[in-house]
Amino acid sequence: METMSDQGDPRIRLDFDAPVAVLTVSRADKLNALDAAMVEALADACRRIERRDDIRAVILTGAEGKAFSAGGDIEAWSGEPPEDFGRFWVREGHEAFDRLARLRQPVIAVLNGHALGGGLELAACADLRIAEAHVKIGQPETGLGIIPGWSGTQRAVRRFGSQLVRRMALFGEIFAAEEALRLGLVDQVAEKGEGLSVARAIASTVAKRGPLATETTKMLVNMAEGEEVGRVGEALAGMLAANSAELREGISAFREKRPADFGKKPKD
Ligand code: COA
Repeated sequence: METMSDQGDPRIRLDFDAPVAVLTVSRADKLNALDAAMVEALADACRRIERRDDIRAVILTGAEGKAFSAGGDIEAWSGEPPEDFGRFWVREGHEAFDRLARLRQPVIAVLNGHALGGGLELAACADLRIAEAHVKIGQPETGLGIIPGWSGTQRAVRRFGSQLVRRMALFGEIFAAEEALRLGLVDQVAEKGEGLSVARAIASTVAKRGPLATETTKMLVNMAEGEEVGRVGEALAGMLAANSAELREGISAFREKRPADFGKKPKD
């Protein structure tokens, strides 16, 4: 197993155990709350995962303790100048969480502790959520006088529905794992301490499926959800063009300094 934590912030741990990568938010003393450096490290970890053809599924979890993640680091954001909350905190969170949600590999979140605020926004980026039986899930931000700023009113609405987000974000409802399952916030409930092994078993079945079909299907589902319409269109067209005889002829013509002849059969 290869660990990448030495190359970045050790509080975002990335272990490659092909065909699975495990991303762990590792700041147990602060209930895995995320500060700006961790958000950047998360984006960086996603870039590394995207480059790996041997990685077919990603497991996202928190270091053992009470929380999967208790959300954005309250001390960090409350210390920022007010305008910078929108300029940097929100924007950089979106950039990192978008990368996670748009990873080409399916992502399975293991909520091995509470997922609150940014912790739920993080879990919302995954393609499947497994909650351990003892966890609680909610969006407490307005109780602190702040808004859910890492897509908790956007991706969360797309993935969970606006009424559920209203209940959590406007009325402060906190859901236990079984109720979260019934409501569709999570896909499975596992016994305490069993989430990771359940996720590993699911990840190994994902790894047997067609990689390109899985990647492009994830893109299409994301696009249907309004996740990344422009990029998906161009990425799919780009994949098609990159495999075409037309492109091979275009490149040959460029190299041979002659006009392209698209009626001609390419020499392979
Ligand atoms: N940001 C920064 N630090 C946090 C945090 C957060 N979101 N959530 C917890 N912590 C820190 C606490 O300050 C405490 O640090 P300390 O030991 O240095 O004092 C440590 O993590 C343990 O948390 P604590 O509150 O003592 O644990 P608890 O068991 O009494 O309560 C919670 C657990 C989850 C109910 C409580 O920590 C909480 O409400 N956290 C904030 C959740 C939230 O509002 N998230 C949205 C943020 S925008």
